[in-house]
Amino acid sequence: MKQKDIYPPHKLVNRQQRSEVKDHLPLVIWFTGLSGSGKSTIANELEKQLVHQFHAHTYLLDGDDVRNGLNADLGFSEKDRKENIRRVGEVARLMYDAGLIVITSFISPFRSDRDTIRNLMEPGAFWEVFVSCPLEECIRRDTKGLYKRAISGTLDNFTGISSPYEEPLSPEIVLDTTQQEVQMCVGKIIEKLIEEKIINR
Ligand code: ADX
Repeated sequence: MKQKDIYPPHKLVNRQQRSEVKDHLPLVIWFTGLSGSGKSTIANELEKQLVHQFHAHTYLLDGDDVRNGLNADLGFSEKDRKENIRRVGEVARLMYDAGLIVITSFISPFRSDRDTIRNLMEPGAFWEVFVSCPLEECIRRDTKGLYKRAISGTLDNFTGISSPYEEPLSPEIVLDTTQQEVQMCVGKIIEKLIEEKIINR
């Protein structure tokens, strides 16, 4: 909803100037996939390499983190998930404006919500990374024991079991975590970041 009687602030420093004092371009790298697919593991390792090897200015926004703070008032109904992703999208956009490489790790199950965030950003500023892993494999991994609870009926609205997940139709990157180790997945993203001149080798 657009607010009336609110005017954009006049700022003395713009995104380009914030970006120029860093040795890379800003970007939002948006991980999406089922719980247990490997999003957070890959996102964490990616941030580690970007900071330590490329001296990039980054920030990792993670579902399990944000839901304890900014979004502590939200649950897992369709409406709350949409609001969760809307807020994270807005935060990511601000961080992009600050000149950062923003990495997000949320199930973000609805295609339309992810597309809305893509459309908030300028072309090329949003990379959707689909962390692909079959539901059966996520259930087998069940690192948090949540699938067991969802299947037994003691946890409602669980993505993949009692709540939908819509795969991206044309993500910038697809990572298959049943075939590729974490380092290979991170390597693939880093290669593309170099190719597209977001970071320098
Ligand atoms: S999202 O669907 O709104 O994007 P988000 O990524 O923030 O989800 O949070 C997902 C994490 O919350 C999961 O990794 C899991 O640990 C936890 N969780 C708790 N309840 C649920 C549920 N009903 N569905 C999915 N994840 C849940």
